[in-house]
Amino acid sequence: MELAKAYIQRNFNRASPSYDAVASIQKKCATHLVGCLKNHFPTCHPDTILDLGTGTGYIPEILLYAFPETKFTLNDLSSTMLDTVKKKLPSKKVTYILGDMELQDFDFHDLITSNLALQWVDDLYKTIRKFYEKSRFFAFSSLLDGTFSEWSKIFTDSSLPPPIHRYPSRRALADYIGSLQPSKYFCDASTFDVVFSSAVDCMRYLKALGANYSHQHITISDLKKIINIYRDKIKLTYQVFFCILSR
Ligand SMILES: C[S@@+](CC[C@H](N)C(=O)[O-])C[C@H]1O[C@@H](n2cnc3c(N)ncnc32)[C@H](O)[C@@H]1O
Repeated sequence: MELAKAYIQRNFNRASPSYDAVASIQKKCATHLVGCLKNHFPTCHPDTILDLGTGTGYIPEILLYAFPETKFTLNDLSSTMLDTVKKKLPSKKVTYILGDMELQDFDFHDLITSNLALQWVDDLYKTIRKFYEKSRFFAFSSLLDGTFSEWSKIFTDSSLPPPIHRYPSRRALADYIGSLQPSKYFCDASTFDVVFSSAVDCMRYLKALGANYSHQHITISDLKKIINIYRDKIKLTYQVFFCILSR
């Protein structure tokens, strides 16, 4: 496994016990994504559902209730996330696939879902195409540019490299979705804020979520520098893209 993926996997493995206590925005996004599916694609009654990067199972928790007869497959890169979701959803209709969604070969599913996991892949557009081609309906949310820009600014203001990923613009993603020529699609974007009492509080949040991987190497002394300077409130903004495609 490439090094970046190994770190992402390690961080989510470590975060699985703390994830549910901090992931309120992820839960809201899961609820919103399923709401969009029901409102805009009321004919979607899938026999099979695959949830990619399922984490602790926010999407299957909702969909198991909505589609009690459906066969579910839950995928994640992190074994401890899958262990957590197995305890929550002890159903015979659920199977689990541990692995990297970009490399793993999956069967065709009526509905493929993914909530706030696609931003971790290396090639977002290729991954969107892969799962669009493997499903009748593909419903996902992912992060857009501007996400955590306040956190980036703190680092750049201190002449340090910003510790966040580059995310695509809404326009670029919507254009790509259009280029796939789905028979029908829905795209939307929303903003969610979360406020922390200080930089150290914000770092603890990112670690508890498992979202603390950075392509930039940040030293402990740089982090201490940030902690010492930013002792006031910090707001983080999530810019989230919601999309559903049907073939
Ligand atoms: C922010 S969490 C979202 C979890 C869940 N979907 C939710 O709604 O809360 C991202 C999840 O994606 C998983 N993940 C990251 N990269 C992945 C990959 N390449 N393949 C499969 N899962 C991946 C992580 O292990 C983590 O559980």
